[in-house]
Amino acid sequence: MAEQQFSPGLAGVVAGKSEVGLVNGTDGILLYRGYRVEDLAEHCTFEEVAHLLLVGKLPNAAELAAFDAELKARRALPEGILDILRALPKTTHPMAALQAATAALSGFYPALDAGDRKASWEAILRLTAGMPTIVAAFHRIRQGLPVVAPDTSLTAAADFLTMLNGERPTEKAARLFDVCLVLHAEHGFNASTFTGRVVGSSLADIYASMSAAVGSLSGPLHGGANEEVLVQLKTIPSAAEAPAWLDHMIETKQKIMGLGHRVYKVKDPRAGILQRMASDLFSTQGSTPLYDIAHAIEKHAAVRLGPKGIWPNVDFYSGLVYEKLGIEVDLFTPLFAISRVSGWAAHWLEQLEDNRIYRPTQKYIGKTDAHYVDISER
Ligand code: COA
Repeated sequence: MAEQQFSPGLAGVVAGKSEVGLVNGTDGILLYRGYRVEDLAEHCTFEEVAHLLLVGKLPNAAELAAFDAELKARRALPEGILDILRALPKTTHPMAALQAATAALSGFYPALDAGDRKASWEAILRLTAGMPTIVAAFHRIRQGLPVVAPDTSLTAAADFLTMLNGERPTEKAARLFDVCLVLHAEHGFNASTFTGRVVGSSLADIYASMSAAVGSLSGPLHGGANEEVLVQLKTIPSAAEAPAWLDHMIETKQKIMGLGHRVYKVKDPRAGILQRMASDLFSTQGSTPLYDIAHAIEKHAAVRLGPKGIWPNVDFYSGLVYEKLGIEVDLFTPLFAISRVSGWAAHWLEQLEDNRIYRPTQKYIGKTDAHYVDISER
């Protein structure tokens, strides 16, 4: 047999073809269906970007209004989903609650054949519109607060913050959050998107595929990193001590959360946008020691880790922005998920257009000469 190729983490392996998004890690370029993420973040709402990813084109005004109305009609959750969220221990991580509720949604609607495009589209709308409601509802429930029903007069971003906090956000906060949703919507064949495609490739339905993607996103090397960034930053007493902290982390071979990326070997373009947003937010609403510490880390990391191609990624500044918006740390990854579901679903649809079940091979390194011994003699 020919020598099998093995690439840990599938690094460099082409595992599929896609028209959804392009991540150019050498030049720091991210495209959603050909559009630069910087342009989309500046000019578009999340609803427009979700349409772009899912339908394949930026909508005109009439298309956007129709798509938005379809989503708004699906923001409310079945009462049974709220009951499931109420049944969970209050200490449940919101990602676990989101994963459970996403899978459970399938039970509230007619059984879904993954090949039925119309029914799957309906389910995709339901997930895109409903996942934010799940996250907000669970957050209220775990605090012992009443669930806030969706308000369809609001944009997805403003409604989410209203359902979460029980009060309307300022226009500025809603737009900032909207931009965060745009920035997290798509990122090529990352672990969670790939997970969604792998699950979809077995013709599992969209609920099973999206809940699996949520599980993949929850890990600290993927979406969970944005929580870990703040946890780490909070252990550094001051900006003056940041360089010594970083040196110690490097010397003891520990990872600095929010730095490094499998694909980007330059600064993640999303980190640049978030950094500018953070800088604006902190300059108008007052800086915090944490922001100053992050800044000091980035500066020193450019010298120590930059030459190795390790630069800030999207998670480095997103947590700081979310915290300034008053969002709790363990909600950061769910916020990522409620945006990324649009990218996941776009990939899922693409996978099914030309599907072949994923079944890679392995390099077997186990025994080949084990002999059976009766249980009484082992
Ligand atoms: N801090 C310190 N060193 C880092 C680092 C970080 N954040 N990220 C990578 N490195 C180092 C590794 O220790 C390794 O060093 P070595 O060659 O001396 O062993 C080298 O850079 C290559 O790292 P590796 O983990 O093999 O890269 P990867 O492509 O497999 O992993 C990540 C990419 C994202 C998993 C990794 O950079 C990481 O763990 N970052 C922190 C978590 C994070 O922010 N994740 C969010 C990604 S959007």
